[in-house]
Amino acid sequence: MRKLFIISTVVFWLAVAGFRLADFCITTIPVTAVSPVVEPAVKGYLLAEVAGHARQNDCWMAIEGSVYDITTYLPDHPSEPELILPWCGKEATQAWRTKNKGRTHTSRANQLLENYRIGVLR
Ligand code: HEM
Repeated sequence: MRKLFIISTVVFWLAVAGFRLADFCITTIPVTAVSPVVEPAVKGYLLAEVAGHARQNDCWMAIEGSVYDITTYLPDHPSEPELILPWCGKEATQAWRTKNKGRTHTSRANQLLENYRIGVLR
């Protein structure tokens, strides 16, 4: 009987100590805030906004659902300017896909294009 009393007393105090320890951990160890992953906002443009950039010194194009500001690239484009300039301010996917000649741009041109992406078409 005495043995049972000692065992239950030890178990009781161990339980009390356990609760105190848990309480200490919960109240004193700060919960580190998990910062949410914030995706950079992708800007959306209406075709009407793209249309406002239809000049040689301010040339945007909508291609495959994205919007590109290719103003600084224009002087480096290998074709005659007359071929590419009419597409400033426009939905130019078809022209991009065919170069107005039924030939697609190379994958290098595709990579280059990504440098000029400013958003998506809404
Ligand atoms: C959407 C209107 C465009 C038209 C009509 C057009 C047309 C052409 C033409 C005629 C050529 C030269 C001839 C040929 O390679 O077959 C060419 C080549 C090229 N264009 Fe364009 N282009 C356009 C937009 C762009 C844009 C936005 C970029 C990049 C920012 C670009 C990058 C290149 C490159 C790198 C070449 C060299 C050949 C190649 O890699 O395909 N073009 N393009």
